[in-house]
Amino acid sequence: MSGVPYVQLGVREPGLRDALLAAAADVLADGGFIGGERVERFEARFAGLCGVAHGIGVGSGTDALVLALRALGIGPGDEVITAPNSFLASASAIALCGARPVLADVGDDFNLDPACVEAAIGERTRAILAVHLTGRPARLDALGDLARHHGLELIEDAAQAVGARLGDRPVGSFGRLGCFSLHPLKNLGAAGDAGIVVTDDARLADWLRRARNHGLRSRDEAEFWSLNSRLDALQAALLEVKLERLEAWTAARRWNARFYREALVDVVQVPDEPAGLHCVYHTFVIQSGRRDALRAHLDERGIETRVHYPVPIHLQPAASGLGYAKGDFPVAEAQAARIVSLPVWPGLTRADLEQVVEGIRSFHVGGH
Ligand SMILES: Cc1ncc(COP(=O)(O)O)c(C=O)c1O
Repeated sequence: MSGVPYVQLGVREPGLRDALLAAAADVLADGGFIGGERVERFEARFAGLCGVAHGIGVGSGTDALVLALRALGIGPGDEVITAPNSFLASASAIALCGARPVLADVGDDFNLDPACVEAAIGERTRAILAVHLTGRPARLDALGDLARHHGLELIEDAAQAVGARLGDRPVGSFGRLGCFSLHPLKNLGAAGDAGIVVTDDARLADWLRRARNHGLRSRDEAEFWSLNSRLDALQAALLEVKLERLEAWTAARRWNARFYREALVDVVQVPDEPAGLHCVYHTFVIQSGRRDALRAHLDERGIETRVHYPVPIHLQPAASGLGYAKGDFPVAEAQAARIVSLPVWPGLTRADLEQVVEGIRSFHVGGH
């Protein structure tokens, strides 16, 4: 048995490697490292994929969130509601703007429970930051209704969900702003850190283009203080090459997910995919009451797994000032003790998938 790595970041496919090297060589040859046509072309294509008019490339998914919140004027005195089981950045971005992250529990789908969001809305609430965790669209219909009813902004943290759809509509197009990470581990990953904000709002797009570039409105005139968080042209050139393969990669992830679901549904809790959802399986998360023993059993067979994420945001030391305690978000906390992410990357072979399935079945059925 050869084992199964959780992920394979190196570029093994010769055709892809050649195309990436050629794209990088072009940038190195002409020296167009900052801004320019390559960045604009990638931004336009990415926005098109999301079904919106504008894409603004930035330095990371975290910066995408911070800048999106700032674009809406969110700052000190404001509250933004998000999920406690997300990656830290969903909450830290809110805090970095000077606003207060308010958390609401999630449902069986690992995404915000609209009833819990409604209960968390208060006087100071300005926005709902919906996370599409695991690559599964959040309950955007209900969250959109809540936002409209209470006069709140809806922002999407789509870091894990490029290409996911609710009905015919891609994620990133539901909120006023959609934020994506292009970190190497993501379904569409750069060769380093990168991110992008998408929106249909031309005014917000203009503001974001200045905000990622020192607040400059012309070469020499700064309108407001801001940071440097541009998408590198080198990354844009590589991402444009990879974008062409995204659909095929997503199809492979979805195929892997279906294989696992069918082969494991009788032994562990597997994620479902109700009609109308098109999930992209950034992670394939199963749940087991003996999670740690299961992981050890798989590890002995060379099958790598991860946990996304073992410590919910409200129990992080960084969140101590928010006043939350253990027990505040029972669903997220129970899930944190049971979840395990299986390898689901597009290059897995059928033999890899069978090996993972056999590892899990031998644990649960084999009396461990
Ligand atoms: C849900 C979520 N939000 C935000 C981020 C932050 O993105 P980045 O690592 O590109 O800053 C990530 C990725 O790590 C994520 O998974």
